[in-house]
Amino acid sequence: MAYLWLKVFHIVGVVVWFSGLFYLVRLFIYDVEASGRPEPAKSLLKSQYRVMEKRLLNIIATPGMIVTLVMAMGLLASDRTLIHQQWLQLKLGLVLLLILYHFYCRKIFRNLSSETCGWTGQQLRLLNELPTVLLIAVVSLAIFKDGLPIYSAALGLIGLVLLMILAIYFYAKKRRISQEVLIVEAN
Ligand code: HEM
Repeated sequence: MAYLWLKVFHIVGVVVWFSGLFYLVRLFIYDVEASGRPEPAKSLLKSQYRVMEKRLLNIIATPGMIVTLVMAMGLLASDRTLIHQQWLQLKLGLVLLLILYHFYCRKIFRNLSSETCGWTGQQLRLLNELPTVLLIAVVSLAIFKDGLPIYSAALGLIGLVLLMILAIYFYAKKRRISQEVLIVEAN
């Protein structure tokens, strides 16, 4: 029974953590793109985004990560055989990447606050796809466990990454064209 409750809050933690991570990088994109706006809109938008980014990191994403990991430790402690299973070891490797991503987002936030962030909106859009890939991989491992067909799953993920890159490329092209049309119409 305790094991199932740990699993419930493990999954709740995952949902909260990911909602924070996904929205955080979206805010970074708006923040970076606000640099192209004229004053006073630029300063107003940027200061509002900084408040939202800080709250999202400290009140949603980080507590979500802590709950996920604490519940996961509880699950491992309740069933000592789990740690010897291959799917879990692979999952731990992917979760480590996710934790690094989380702390890297914190670094981007600090750089944005000191106006030293070198990322463009386009690069941040690509970066924002990384947690999606990790989410699909980790959840697939948690569900299929050692029955996951690793090679076909990896191929499927590579296909998905390519699709995401294409979608971002065409979206950027569409935005560029509509901006050019607006400039032509304004003149
Ligand atoms: C240190 C990190 C983590 C550890 C040690 C861990 C460990 C575990 C364990 C032991 C279970 C129970 C498996 C079972 O009862 O069959 C579980 C379930 C689950 N975990 Fe994690 N987990 C971690 C992070 C994550 C993350 C980051 C995600 C999502 C991205 C995730 C998604 C899930 C899901 C969806 C389940 C439910 C699977 C099911 O019951 O069928 N876990 N995890």
